[in-house]
Amino acid sequence: MVLNTCVFDAYGTLFDVNAAARIAANEPNRELFKKVWPEVSNTWRMKQLQYTWLRSMTDSYIDFWSITQNSLDYALEAHKLHNDLALKERLLALYWELQPYSEVSQMLKELKKNGIQTAILSNGSLEMLSGAVRSSNLYEVIDEIISVETVKIFKPNARVYMQVENVIGCSKSEVLFVSSNGWDIAGAAGFGFETAWVNRLQDPIDRLPHKPTHIVGDLKSIPSFF
Ligand code: LAC
Repeated sequence: MVLNTCVFDAYGTLFDVNAAARIAANEPNRELFKKVWPEVSNTWRMKQLQYTWLRSMTDSYIDFWSITQNSLDYALEAHKLHNDLALKERLLALYWELQPYSEVSQMLKELKKNGIQTAILSNGSLEMLSGAVRSSNLYEVIDEIISVETVKIFKPNARVYMQVENVIGCSKSEVLFVSSNGWDIAGAAGFGFETAWVNRLQDPIDRLPHKPTHIVGDLKSIPSFF
């Protein structure tokens, strides 16, 4: 079947997960945080992902916003910043309006101009995803926002990818799935989607079954796959 639907992972793929810490670090009176923000941001993200996998494995789902708060608590304590409550509140507030990567808006406009259906499929709660889409002015170019909330298990469980067919009503062979997370790509490819792995930092490929169909450095070339 011909590809006609482009489904994106949200965090790290459309929205820059380091943007919250980067912005907060450059605000006044954040001297300590300014020195360590990349490490804090990295620990925050790594723990956030680990908690999704562990909660899926142990059948103890909680929503992604709670996971995001738990993992930030861990990251701040790991870097001895847990007494800075104002910093924590600021980072959480910024997570609701994460900046998209610079090419996102143009790329989505191009897909829509070419008649391609667009969607987000994310671990994020619907409320968080709507917040990020609204604050980035992407509402007009994203047709569907699909959250794991309905199935209450996180990626890469196949029930999550199945939601695309259920919600959009398309067949998996019509979908290009785009993610910057190698493990998410492996899950989506195993499910049966064509995939594009966005490898911005030239990371090694994950040693997992199911390799990406395409590997790209950013999102600019995505419309050329349709
Ligand atoms: C998401 C995470 C995996 O948006 O980045 O689903």
